Amino acid sequence: MAHQIRIAGSDLQFACEPGENILDAALKVGIEMPYSCRKGVCGNCAGKVASGEVQCSPAASAEATPPGEVLYCQCSPLGDLEIVPTAYKRIEPGARKRFAAKVFRNTRAAEDVSILQLRLPAGQRARFSAGQYLQVELPDGSRRSYSMANPPHESDALQLHIRHVAGGQFTQIVPTLAAGDVLQVELPFGHFELREEAGLPMVCVAGGTGFAPVKSLLDDIAKKKIARPVTLVWGGRTRESLYLLSVVERWQKVLPGFRFIPTVEDAADAQALGGFHGRVDDAVRASFESLAGHEVYCCGSPVMVSAVRKACVDERQLAPEHFFSDVFVPGPAA
Ligand code: FES
Repeated sequence: MAHQIRIAGSDLQFACEPGENILDAALKVGIEMPYSCRKGVCGNCAGKVASGEVQCSPAASAEATPPGEVLYCQCSPLGDLEIVPTAYKRIEPGARKRFAAKVFRNTRAAEDVSILQLRLPAGQRARFSAGQYLQVELPDGSRRSYSMANPPHESDALQLHIRHVAGGQFTQIVPTLAAGDVLQVELPFGHFELREEAGLPMVCVAGGTGFAPVKSLLDDIAKKKIARPVTLVWGGRTRESLYLLSVVERWQKVLPGFRFIPTVEDAADAQALGGFHGRVDDAVRASFESLAGHEVYCCGSPVMVSAVRKACVDERQLAPEHFFSDVFVPGPAA
């Protein structure tokens, strides 16, 4: 028999089948709570259980679980529950749509990165918020998740930055995709969005193709003429890893108070770029004495995001609720 889960301080309640996790049950009925990987790795879905008992999967990373909280993507109720998520909202019914999107350009931006530009069928528009992602459906029914790199006002197209993963079922075929090929996509997903009302100075930290959702956010800010100081820390192994510097140069012209800290592990490339030599979390430590009164938007691998969170929250006084992240976990979407 399904258990009932109530969100504390609201009149929202939803059913969760035995063995089903709390996050899936909420999403199924159109209640969106923060999440990213859905695999127990990123910690974005952490929240409290005010009453009732849960059973958590061993896949839930202890490191990603704050004290006194559980990962909703890895826990199932053992009875009725009251939960206290860090945030939640109702998704408008019908907001998520499927499209047969056509490739119109496929360019190699770096040795291991393709930029795929898709067009929606004539007359159709995608509705999403900057920072959200889509799922590509593969012929075997499995799905891969990619953030939109274009801003929401470019709603007849979708731009994806795809890093080639060795042996990756989808990324292997990406270089062969040509104009006219069709991909089945569904969007929008995700909770990584700009908090426009906050108005605080922003620090965006991206690792490799974690640049894609940041590009959508900053293009959106430029379009809306939102005046917020923005620092971008974009990291990779070499200069080539920062595969779209022309876009950064554009922001330097149109975003007042924009600062760019290119961060690479190759010493000669770091010097050539006039940037930071090392990892992005160290670049953040070196660039800010305190992050009190800031917001940080961070996108990249689980290890990178966790290192940046530690630098910002544990060492630079960032309020934990002002750290927003999108964690990229390779493989099928959960
Ligand atoms: S740990 Fe649950 S969404 Fe990442």
